[in-house]
Amino acid sequence: MSAERKPTVLLTGAAHGIGRATALALADRNTPMALIDRDGPALAEIAGELKARGATVAEAVADVTDREDLAAAVATLAEAVGPIEVLLACAGIGTLTVVPELDTPMLRKTLEVNLLGVAHSIEAVLPGMIERRRGHIVGVASVAGYRGFPWMISYSASKAGLIAYLEGIRPGLRRRGVTVTTVCPGFVRTQMCTSVPYQYPVKMIEPEAAARHLVRAIEQRPRNCIFPWDMRISLAVLKYMPDGLFDRLMRWVGPRALHVEF
Ligand SMILES: NC(=O)c1ccc[n+]([C@@H]2O[C@H](COP(=O)([O-])OP(=O)(O)OC[C@H]3O[C@@H](n4cnc5c(N)ncnc54)[C@H](OP(=O)(O)O)[C@@H]3O)[C@@H](O)[C@H]2O)c1
Repeated sequence: MSAERKPTVLLTGAAHGIGRATALALADRNTPMALIDRDGPALAEIAGELKARGATVAEAVADVTDREDLAAAVATLAEAVGPIEVLLACAGIGTLTVVPELDTPMLRKTLEVNLLGVAHSIEAVLPGMIERRRGHIVGVASVAGYRGFPWMISYSASKAGLIAYLEGIRPGLRRRGVTVTTVCPGFVRTQMCTSVPYQYPVKMIEPEAAARHLVRAIEQRPRNCIFPWDMRISLAVLKYMPDGLFDRLMRWVGPRALHVEF
């Protein structure tokens, strides 16, 4: 474990997947952490493991969609571990949506967690960061936010909204000493990704590899962090692909890639 004291990180979605792996990686770097998740038993388990490794950790069960509850939890955690210097907003849900079952209640839920949940988390830490004129907001979006994927319509919309939100707050916060990083992971082997009914094996990276990218993003504060590297190329191609070609590609890929009808 390195001896240098690192900035205190608030990590949402810490109990599972990418958040959990990143908490373990940050503990190895002597990073004080405030952990939030809605899954109490799993959160207690990871917090216990980190404390057993000697890490400075406090945890609170909270749902990021509950603005007041979350703000109260963040205030309590900051009292325990010190002012929050980095927010790593990882909490999110993955949903499959296809035409014609557009399931707007699920769209609402997905937007509430993936977009509003991150906005609530930012809101809870921002006054302190602005007052200190120092801070770093790291929001975990997705490659699915770059184009509308026809098997994850609501998820794509939520992540596209998040990418735009983070981009929008970036210049004004930079002037106030706060940096913003938008993270877009490709496929990571977590419950969220392995539960998608793909027809063929999909190349996924391990959560530990994703955690290494996130730790680097916290240390280097880039505007964007897209991984793995080959996803950067796919994204650039997808982003600038003409709409007609994208539509044709999705009509071809969709039925071959997934066990869903659309
Ligand atoms: N895995 C991928 O391939 C992939 C790719 C691109 C982007 N991402 C993004 O990366 C982030 C982490 O995903 P993951 O794959 O690690 O998923 P995960 O294994 O399902 O972990 C997500 C964590 O967030 C928690 N959470 C969900 N909703 C919450 C809420 N309302 N309040 C508080 N905590 C909440 C979950 O708790 P529960 O277990 O109780 O739901 C879980 O502990 C997400 O934002 C996801 O969209 C993942």
